[in-house]
Amino acid sequence: MLQKKEKRYIINTYNRRPESTLLLTRGRGTLLWDAEGKEYLDFVGGIAVNALGHAHHPVLQAAREQMERVIHTSNLYYSEPQISLAECLVENSVGEKVFFGNSGAEANEAAIKLARKYMKTKGRADRFEIITALDSFHGRTMATLAATGQPKFQKGFEPLPPGFCYARFNDLESFRSQLNECTAAIMVEPVQGEGGVHVGTTAFLAGLRHLCDENNLLLIFDEVQSGMGRTGKLFAYENYGVHPDIFTLAKALGGGFPIGAMLCSEKVAAGFSPGDHASTFGGNPVACAAALAVLQEILQIGFLDDVEAKGRYFREKLQLLSDKFPGVVLEIRGAGLIIGLELQGKAKEIQHLCQAKGLLVNCLGDKIVRFLPPLNVSRAELDSALKVLEESFKEVFAGE
Ligand SMILES: Cc1ncc(COP(=O)(O)O)c(C=O)c1O
Repeated sequence: MLQKKEKRYIINTYNRRPESTLLLTRGRGTLLWDAEGKEYLDFVGGIAVNALGHAHHPVLQAAREQMERVIHTSNLYYSEPQISLAECLVENSVGEKVFFGNSGAEANEAAIKLARKYMKTKGRADRFEIITALDSFHGRTMATLAATGQPKFQKGFEPLPPGFCYARFNDLESFRSQLNECTAAIMVEPVQGEGGVHVGTTAFLAGLRHLCDENNLLLIFDEVQSGMGRTGKLFAYENYGVHPDIFTLAKALGGGFPIGAMLCSEKVAAGFSPGDHASTFGGNPVACAAALAVLQEILQIGFLDDVEAKGRYFREKLQLLSDKFPGVVLEIRGAGLIIGLELQGKAKEIQHLCQAKGLLVNCLGDKIVRFLPPLNVSRAELDSALKVLEESFKEVFAGE
């Protein structure tokens, strides 16, 4: 019934299939339940959104209290939750100023606009081009789509906004070769998420910083997927000791509430003047109150060390699994709790079998299984997921 209505009323961009798409109705911690009451371990985590799992009490409480006070007032007025969240983000990062939007694409759109405007205020209107990485993902608005270095997402939407060119990820020389007199900025994900869980190397990201400094360019890190504790550090750039001029957040920031943020240095922030950019819902009080509760939890002593340790543990166990099935696993990649398992193929089969056995994982193409469990996942839950994965491997790859 519901599936029929979905087909009737919702535009078919997600290709949901009644035979394999779940109707999830309830969640708590790492667990989700479908409409029939079947339980699942959630290692999709809302695609890196549910950093503290489902129905996390402090987040619920903060949002509920704010909802009862006031849900929305607009950016015409001061908002206490918005200012407190900005303070917390700035005091715990290299960012000095924040702009709030509602999504990752919006945060990146703001970064792109700011990079262009900053160059104009510096008298360099000729500098507008941004070099991004092949296999990157920056969003689906027209500018962020143009920034996304994957033709498959761009096809059919041409002409794309001009001002973007692409270089190979983790290849400094490739980025250097794209530099020209129009270049304003370099924008990369420190860890590519949608592109297949590719972790940036320190040599590459530090090299980009150097390249930007040498050429007076801005370095933008898209931490929409890799920020907010996902890699075992609050922000992914901390793994590298490389400080971006601008970085963007969304996904996990609101613990499930839609919110995005762009942070930048004071100097770069001066590129925007009143009226240059805005968002009706950006910095909504409820989303900000929830985000502040998420941040406070992630900042608890030992929380991030635990994320790092659990990620290492999971990857070590994946290696043991890989050893049992020679030739099946091509690579195990990741940082903290963003983990990709590259297989020779049949990733979708593994995904479907895992789902049938009560474990939700996500696939990138038919080769990569991605794990994005809540950051507060327990070791017992990691072990349960590994058990399901091994059973699925046995069914799919036995005898290969
Ligand atoms: C690195 C990165 N940037 C931007 C986005 C776009 O975020 P949103 O879907 O919230 O617009 C995503 C989404 O997957 C992402 O992974």
